[in-house]
Amino acid sequence: MAAVSSQANAEAVVVDSVEKRFGAVHALQGVSFAAPEGSVLGVLGPNGAGKTTTVSVLSTLVRPDAGHASVAGFDVVRDAAAVRASIMLTGQYAALDDLLTGRENLVLFGRLLGLGHKGSRRRADELLAQFELEDAADRRVGQYSGGMRRRIDIACGLVRLPKVVFLDEPTTGLDPVSRQAVWSLVRGLRHDGVTVLLTTQYLEEADVLSDNIIVIDKGRVIAEGTADDLKSRSGPSYCEVVPVDTANVAAVARMLASFGTVAISDSGDRVSVPAPDGPSTLAAALGRITDAGIELVDIALRRPSLDEVFVKLTRPAAEADARAVDA
Ligand SMILES: Nc1ncnc2c1ncn2[C@@H]1O[C@H](COP(=O)(O)OP(=O)(O)OP(=O)(O)O)[C@@H](O)[C@H]1O
Ligand SMILES: [Mg+2]
Repeated sequence: MAAVSSQANAEAVVVDSVEKRFGAVHALQGVSFAAPEGSVLGVLGPNGAGKTTTVSVLSTLVRPDAGHASVAGFDVVRDAAAVRASIMLTGQYAALDDLLTGRENLVLFGRLLGLGHKGSRRRADELLAQFELEDAADRRVGQYSGGMRRRIDIACGLVRLPKVVFLDEPTTGLDPVSRQAVWSLVRGLRHDGVTVLLTTQYLEEADVLSDNIIVIDKGRVIAEGTADDLKSRSGPSYCEVVPVDTANVAAVARMLASFGTVAISDSGDRVSVPAPDGPSTLAAALGRITDAGIELVDIALRRPSLDEVFVKLTRPAAEADARAVDA
């Protein structure tokens, strides 16, 4: 079932005004986005936002009530079989045989996919190396730990390289080493030209892995862009100053007021001020403070984290600037 058409289409995933209801729950309320071939799209959103429903629509497990979606150039409703042949979904191949070893499972999938005896063994070796499962290769999968199982499960889905991979919270509950392994897997897939759609609760993960990020909330895309775009939308870099003596906080705040709106932290021990000129602002601030003989624990240039962006986007804006002290 090879894709016959020569795709001039540069978008591997296109979602256009997709809606889905589950009874009274309007889970997707007109979701639209696209992911170019060979890119990693991070899908962020709070619990219940509609991330898994979106992945289910794209992997043909759930039929949209309205709108259109296509994957690898195939419509998820009209060409569902072709979509399924082009994708890999974590957990889809949970049909692992516990009585077979990791290597035997991989070879079995290779044979089922028509890779032949030699081809299947070669692909199994590559995947065992890639997933650092060589030591466990000849042990039965039934004896694997949770993290190892997750890895062999993903590896089985990659015996034949798909066009698009859906990873729905692939690192939830994994230890840091296994998490790093999934991260390098995502980077490797991208390197091989595979498009990856990755949902995650870990903003840091979306930040380091994604070419583009969409934020979904209550069944709608509420923001879209690179991690940098999203961060700069939530405000410029700022300079944070922590005096040794908290009695100097107010004096520092006055000293820096000419740089812009100064804010004092809730804890009352640090001052922050916008630093649109980055290091130059920091150097100028440090100069003023040291000239005044005030000792510091720390002075640093900070950018809004993706966490701050996320909180700002998914919560009413009102409180955001409440504590700003105007110069
Ligand atoms: N099969 C279903 N039947 C009824 N309601 C459902 C079904 N699947 C999802 N929902 C509802 O649709 C909404 C979106 O759920 P979804 O699983 O897509 O969220 P999510 O963003 O993946 O959340 P999480 O971060 O918790 O995984 C939720 O209100 C959920 O309860
Ligand atoms: Mg989910």
